[in-house]
Amino acid sequence: RPPLRIAVAGLGTVGAGVIRLLEENRDLITRRAGRPIEVVAVSARDRNKDRGIDLSPYRWEDDMDDLAALADVDAVVEVIGGSDGPALTLARNTLKRGKPFVTANKAMIAHHGMELATIADSSDIPLKFEAAVAGGIPVIKALREGASANRITRVYGILNGTCNFILTKMEAEGRDFADVLTEAQAKGYAEADPSFDVDGVDAGHKLSILAAMCFGSRLDFGNVTTRGIRAITAADIREAETLGYRVRLIGMAEQGEDGLYQCVQPCLVPAEHPLGYVPGSLNAVVAEGNFVGRLFFEGAGAGDGPTASAVVADLIDVARNEYGPAFAMAVETLEALPVADSGGR
Ligand code: NDP
Ligand code: HSE
Repeated sequence: RPPLRIAVAGLGTVGAGVIRLLEENRDLITRRAGRPIEVVAVSARDRNKDRGIDLSPYRWEDDMDDLAALADVDAVVEVIGGSDGPALTLARNTLKRGKPFVTANKAMIAHHGMELATIADSSDIPLKFEAAVAGGIPVIKALREGASANRITRVYGILNGTCNFILTKMEAEGRDFADVLTEAQAKGYAEADPSFDVDGVDAGHKLSILAAMCFGSRLDFGNVTTRGIRAITAADIREAETLGYRVRLIGMAEQGEDGLYQCVQPCLVPAEHPLGYVPGSLNAVVAEGNFVGRLFFEGAGAGDGPTASAVVADLIDVARNEYGPAFAMAVETLEALPVADSGGR
């Protein structure tokens, strides 16, 4: 079969990881996808930046707004970031041209996912965002396919690698918040603006996507309550430890009698609970289904390799022509759930 020819917009931590992975695992990916996946065009802000990868085989495009307009581009990968701006322009243009769109951008999906899914589904175009939730853990695929026969009532977990890295390092090494955040940034875990991480917003974006996927509901990021970890001190963490708890940033969404509850906040997790053992930048997602019971997923939630793994898995699905509606059900069938009172939880 002819190759799937892609353009990659954004060549930072994730974009460079995608290029490296496609190069290094080329043969295996070709066999799994049933055809080669070839990068034909790349774009970012600064053409002259050293990104530690050889970009000479690929054509540089200065204008990234409409990469899908290029005749030799079959699909677009967006790893720029930001809920609006160039990422959203590129998403709209790509889908309107009827070309597949793969993204790691949870901010954009949380804010504009319904609009983008409407464009994609109405023309049966793939809109894929596995990397947007929990980095390398294939949790979107597992929930939308593997657990699709269940009524899922609750989904929760550790959804931000930067915060888990900070909390676990403060706990184990007694280090300062600011010092560990700098290390998380150097490792490529943090968002371009790390306040999205430490204020719980990034976890909120992911939670809203997970909730929509699990409950068959419309995305409702506007009603996610977020509290971050800025105010957590080393003394709080020590105090929690003496009481047999660990401090973790937990996102939880629940579909109850009174509607949809979505909240991200620092929680005291019993030391023996599996979420208390999730180290460093790893993430964990727990979903409770009425037939399958409790599912627990753990793995790398951030970083170049794991995130690239999820992006390229989406590309392999596109190359195989294996995909469905962006949110597992047609957008018009997703329920608009009332917002539950979160008091007392
Ligand atoms: P980076 O900041 O490392 O890279 C962003 C890239 O986008 C850079 O190449 C930058 O260009 C380019 N870019 C940014 N703004 C513009 C603009 N206005 N016009 C043109 N190009 C622009 O981000 P990441 O790679 O870490 O993240 C990318 C996306 O993946 C985000 O949506 C993020 O939330 C998501 N993500 C990230 C994960 C991670 O672990 N890092 C994990 C899961 C998802 P230049 O390099 O020239 O400055
Ligand atoms: N900044 C995000 C995190 C990247 O730390 O989890 C992965 O989505």
